[in-house]
Amino acid sequence: MEYILAMTGASGIAYGVDILKKLPSRKVLILSNGAMEVARYELKGKISEKTLRGYADESYGEGDFGSPVASGSHKFDAFMIVPASMNTIGKIAAGVSDNLVTRVASIALKERRKLVIVFREMPLSTIHLRNLLTLSEAGAYILPASPGFYHGPSGLDDLFSFVTSRVFDIIGVDNKFIKRWGD
Ligand SMILES: Cc1cc2nc3c(=O)[nH]c(=O)nc-3n(C[C@H](O)[C@H](O)[C@H](O)COP(=O)(O)O)c2cc1C
Repeated sequence: MEYILAMTGASGIAYGVDILKKLPSRKVLILSNGAMEVARYELKGKISEKTLRGYADESYGEGDFGSPVASGSHKFDAFMIVPASMNTIGKIAAGVSDNLVTRVASIALKERRKLVIVFREMPLSTIHLRNLLTLSEAGAYILPASPGFYHGPSGLDDLFSFVTSRVFDIIGVDNKFIKRWGD
């Protein structure tokens, strides 16, 4: 199995980090320039870019169009964008493939592979909502980064785990990170 995870320049980088750490191999990471900018604020040097890239088997920047994942002939099982900026969401919804993140998203849609989009934005404009609807109609899974509270979270890690668990359920990765309703 190969999973590709992209982080873009939205708040909520920690959600992407949690997924990256827990994801089984083989895992490929794509960091947009915006993601690295936001990571500087949100990770506050606690996790360096090198460490982040080290969690993955391969990692690329947004301009790496020569990488294997830039081609539709390269097989992968799911592409996750966590967190997804409204900029990246708007571009994918408009069919723009101007960097490696939007290119892999367009491949996922055209090849009918799993595309999982986790966004944190609040509130959402009508344009954001239309873009998300367009992507949902095209087959993407749309997940707001809004963890539940019924599993009795005791801290941030439990909230991250909730979102990671929902993403893993969609991409078919068995997990027991949270107490499920009815357990
Ligand atoms: C600290 C910081 C936080 C940001 N948070 C968000 C956010 O939550 N949502 C969003 O859509 N854009 C946010 N932005 C703006 C995006 O990073 C910007 O639109 C960028 O062009 C996105 O590029 P990308 O989609 O290629 O990663 C933030 C920027 C900074 C510097």
